[in-house]
Amino acid sequence: MAGGRGHAADALARSPQRESNALASKTLRDLGMLEGRPEQPQEPVWPSVSVFAAHGPRRDVFDPTTSTSLASIRSAQWAHIDASLTRMQEAQRRWAKLTGDERVAIVMEITENIRHNTESLANLLTLEIGKVPSESVGELVEIFEVAQSIEARAAECGGDQTHVTRQYNSKDSTRRELGWYGEERSLPLGIVGKVTAFNFPYAPFGWGALPALATGNGVVWKPHPDAVLSAMAMTRVVDTVLEKRGFSGLVCCIDIVDKNLVERMWTDPRVGMWEATGGEKMGVALLQAVAPSMTRTLLELGGNNAVVVHSDADVTQAVESCLFGTTGTAGQRCTSTRVVYCHEAVYDDFERRMVEGYNTRVRIGDPLTPGVNVGPVFHAGRVAAFEAGVARCLRQGSELLCGGSVLGGNFVEPTLLRAPGFNHIATESELFSPVAHLVRYKEGEIDRVVADINRTGYGLSGGIFTADAALFDDIVTRVRVGILNLNYGSSGAEAGENFGGEGRTGGGRQMGPAMFASYTRFVNSMRAPAGSPVVHAQGVTQS
Ligand code: UN1
Repeated sequence: MAGGRGHAADALARSPQRESNALASKTLRDLGMLEGRPEQPQEPVWPSVSVFAAHGPRRDVFDPTTSTSLASIRSAQWAHIDASLTRMQEAQRRWAKLTGDERVAIVMEITENIRHNTESLANLLTLEIGKVPSESVGELVEIFEVAQSIEARAAECGGDQTHVTRQYNSKDSTRRELGWYGEERSLPLGIVGKVTAFNFPYAPFGWGALPALATGNGVVWKPHPDAVLSAMAMTRVVDTVLEKRGFSGLVCCIDIVDKNLVERMWTDPRVGMWEATGGEKMGVALLQAVAPSMTRTLLELGGNNAVVVHSDADVTQAVESCLFGTTGTAGQRCTSTRVVYCHEAVYDDFERRMVEGYNTRVRIGDPLTPGVNVGPVFHAGRVAAFEAGVARCLRQGSELLCGGSVLGGNFVEPTLLRAPGFNHIATESELFSPVAHLVRYKEGEIDRVVADINRTGYGLSGGIFTADAALFDDIVTRVRVGILNLNYGSSGAEAGENFGGEGRTGGGRQMGPAMFASYTRFVNSMRAPAGSPVVHAQGVTQS
C-alpha cells in the first residue's frame, strides 16, 4: 500500500511532541483531582474513597500516543476495597429510602455535571486511550442519551414511592373473596459491580451506573487498569454531586492490578451483580469466579461483526459507512466491522473505493492533531497482537489489499484483506485491531453468507446495504446478533436501547426495556388478611 503508508507516516511526522504529563495534570487539576496534594503533584486524589488513602503499589499510567507517563497512581489493596464497600453499603441503605423521583432528579444532576465537564473528561480520555476528540465526546453523549431514556421512564424507578410495587389479584376465587391479593416489589440489588474495558471506559459505565443508581443501588466500578485516570475523573464528577446530596461514596472506582484481589472483589457477597464489558477471556474468568455463589452477571463481550453489501446497495453509502466501521476508533470498538460480504455485481467497485478510502481518507496520527481520524492502538500489547494477527491472516491465505505494517510507537496501519471465500479461518475470530476482510459472494449465495456470519458464534452487531426491505426483513431474523442495521454498518449504536449480543458476545442486553429490571430483584408476596382462613394455592388440601 504505497500511498497509504506514506500518508500515515506524514501525519505522524507532523504530530506535535506534546507534554502529555503537563496536559494530564492540567485536566486533573481542572477537575479538582490534584487538590490538597501539593507535595505530590502527579498523584491524583483517590476520588470518592479519598478518606482511605490507597497505599498499594505505585504505577504509571501511560499516554499511548507518546508512550510517556501521564501520572503515577497507587492501586488499591484489600483494605481499601473492603472499606469502600462498607462505606457504599451505608450510603446505599439511605439512598434506597429516597423516592424514585428524588433519585432520578439526582441522576439528572449527575448527568448535568458530566455535561459541564465534557471538555476535561473528553481530553483526559484522548490522552489516556488515544481516541480522537469527537469519539471521546461521543462516549459522553452516550451517557446523555441513556439519561434521556431514564428521565422518560422515571416512573419505572418508583415515582413518588421508594420502589415500584405492582398489585395483582389472586388466581383463586376463595382467596379473592377472603380479601387475599398479590403484590410484587422491585427492590435494588444493593451494590452493582461494573467492569469496563480499555476502549470504552465512560459510556458503558454510564449505561449501567445511571439506571442502577436510579433504582436505588450503589455502584463499584472496576475500570481497565490502563484506562483508570479517566474512570477516576468520571467518578470524581459523579461524586461531587453525590457528596452535595449527602451520599458520597455511593459510586466508587477501584484500581486493582492484582488478579487475586479482582477475584476476591468479584466474589464479595456485598456485590449483588457484576455487569461487565470486555474480552471473552475476562467474561469466562468472571463467570467461573462467581459460579459457586451464582452472583448475577450481565455480559457484553467481543464480536466479529459483519456487514453485507448486496447487489442493489448504494455503494457510496456502503463505503462511507464501512470506512468508519473498519478503521474508526482504530478498530477497537466492540462494534467495529471485521468482515464485509460483498455481492459480485458491486464487489470490484466496492473494493476499489474502499482501498482508495484507506489510502486517501484515513489519517493516522496524534489524535489531538486536527484532521486525524485514527489514533494509536492502545498499547504495546495491542501492537504485537496486530502484527501477529496480520501475519497469521496472510499465512492462512488472506490477500493484503492495503496496510499491514506497524508504523512505530503504538501506531499501526489500518489493514484491509481479501478473503479467499466462505469458511475462511481468518474471519472466524475477533482480532481487536484495525484489520478487516472483504469476502465476495455470488448471486444466490445469501444463505451461505448468513451461515458464514453465524458460524463464528459471536453475535453483537452487523448491517446490510440493500434497497430491498423484504430481504432485510428476512436476514434480520436469521443472523444471530443483537443489532442489525439497514443501510448503516455495524459500528456505533445509539445508547438507551438494547445493547449486547448472543453467544460468545455474552448474551446480555444493557439499557432497553429491561434497563431497570437488570438492577432490581422482584419480591412477590401473597397478602392474606390477619386471621383469614388458610387457603392453599391451587386448592390443595392437607387432610
Ligand atoms: C464497546 O466498544 O464496548 O455501538 C462499546 C458502539 C458504542 C458502544 C461501544 N455505542 O460502538
